[in-house]
Amino acid sequence: MGKGSLFKELFVNIKTTGAITFSSRSLVNKMLSFADFKGAKVLVELGGGDGSITRGIVERMDEGAELLVFEISRAFCDSLEREFPQANVRIICDSAEHLDTYLKGRPADIILSSLPLSLIPKEARNEIYRKSSQCLHPKGLLIQICYSYLLKFQYAPFFKNIKTTFTLKNFPPTLIMICRP
Ligand SMILES: C[S@@+](CC[C@H](N)C(=O)[O-])C[C@H]1O[C@@H](n2cnc3c(N)ncnc32)[C@H](O)[C@@H]1O
Repeated sequence: MGKGSLFKELFVNIKTTGAITFSSRSLVNKMLSFADFKGAKVLVELGGGDGSITRGIVERMDEGAELLVFEISRAFCDSLEREFPQANVRIICDSAEHLDTYLKGRPADIILSSLPLSLIPKEARNEIYRKSSQCLHPKGLLIQICYSYLLKFQYAPFFKNIKTTFTLKNFPPTLIMICRP
């Protein structure tokens, strides 16, 4: 799938992708700089899309680590599967609210999310918050990128410690929320 087709998929499904462009390299570098990949065994990405963030994770993850990427668009999943054929990267064409099913009791060390949470129905969204916090290792962290500070209040009942930072080096400018259980 070429860049043009990936953008078409993004626009055509704007109600579920919630974005007009993919994350910039600069945003991905800043987002991932808050996570310590050394020793992290189980990594989860929510909303793989075109693989902008997946690429950054794969560059940083330990050889023995496993990455589970959740994405609901079949077209994006096909493209991700072609780009990341390695056995330790699993592309899961299912909603993030089912992450516990695929983790099978193993705690996630790091969860990286670019999900358009404000567009996801409340019930499913709350399942994503609840299961993300339950599935996270007690010393793990979840990083969410988003466009509204209000999202912090939705995460707050599920995470004890939430820090936010901001980057202008993306279009549109983006908040990065670092959540710890
Ligand atoms: C804003 S795009 C981010 C794409 C890419 N990761 C990036 O940073 O540019 C959000 C992605 O989340 C996917 N998505 C939306 N709802 C989802 C859900 N419930 N579970 C898994 N993926 C979902 C969309 O299809 C879309 O690819």
